[in-house]
Amino acid sequence: MSQQQWTAVDDYITGILIGADPVLDAAQAAADAAGLPQIAVSAPQGRQLQILAETLGARRILEVGTLGGYSAIWMARALPADGRLVTLEIDPRHAEVARGNLHHAGFAAIAEVRLGPAADSLRQLADDGAEPFDLVFVDADKASNPLYFAWALRLTRPGSLIVVDNTVRDGAVADAGSADPSVVGVRRLHEAVAAEPRVSATTVQTVGAKGYDGFTLIRVRS
Ligand code: SAH
Ligand code: DHB
Ligand code: MG
Repeated sequence: MSQQQWTAVDDYITGILIGADPVLDAAQAAADAAGLPQIAVSAPQGRQLQILAETLGARRILEVGTLGGYSAIWMARALPADGRLVTLEIDPRHAEVARGNLHHAGFAAIAEVRLGPAADSLRQLADDGAEPFDLVFVDADKASNPLYFAWALRLTRPGSLIVVDNTVRDGAVADAGSADPSVVGVRRLHEAVAAEPRVSATTVQTVGAKGYDGFTLIRVRS
């Protein structure tokens, strides 16, 4: 099995199940033109986030790590007209591109990009007594995953879903000796989740255009 094959299958899945998407193509083009790193979720993964949000009947979605707003657009598509998506981003250039993309996609009224370190924005949301979020997508600096999980728990309710991206990392998650801060962050995340009685969770390994990785699904118990 090779990266070439995984990419070919993702192309097949995208072609047959997702099809042409001028809005997302434009968002990706704007991110590329601004020189943003090409680390957004793939189209099949974006559709998966949309389906999860739809299945939850999500009305409020929180994202940690916006980049150019690609995954945010996928999730916003699941929201009702009076829904809300808050997405947190530390880089002003990324935030600016994301605001433009969300506006162009028709989500200016329901999507908000909050600029600053996510740890600060999360604390602010809690201090403001924000209504609980139905879905949280964590996809920022991996070393901070344990912290983001703790905040996500505070900002959700029983029945909410927390999804954490990039939790397998080419299999490095199984390497207890790794000194890579991202790997350590992902392992500490698993330990924190395992020690938390209020959730049940699993990690799903994935291959595709983005290589060998995975995501963690954390259900806040009802
Ligand atoms: N969710 C996006 C990809 C996010 S990439 C998508 O799939 O389309 C990770 C993003 O997290 C980058 O834009 C990076 O600038 C941002 N980030 C990194 N550290 C952060 C921090 N401490 N607080 C907020 N955002 C951060
Ligand atoms: C990286 C970050 C991501 O969120 C991702 O999905 C892929 C790669 C990275 O920092 O390299
Ligand atoms: Mg990611």
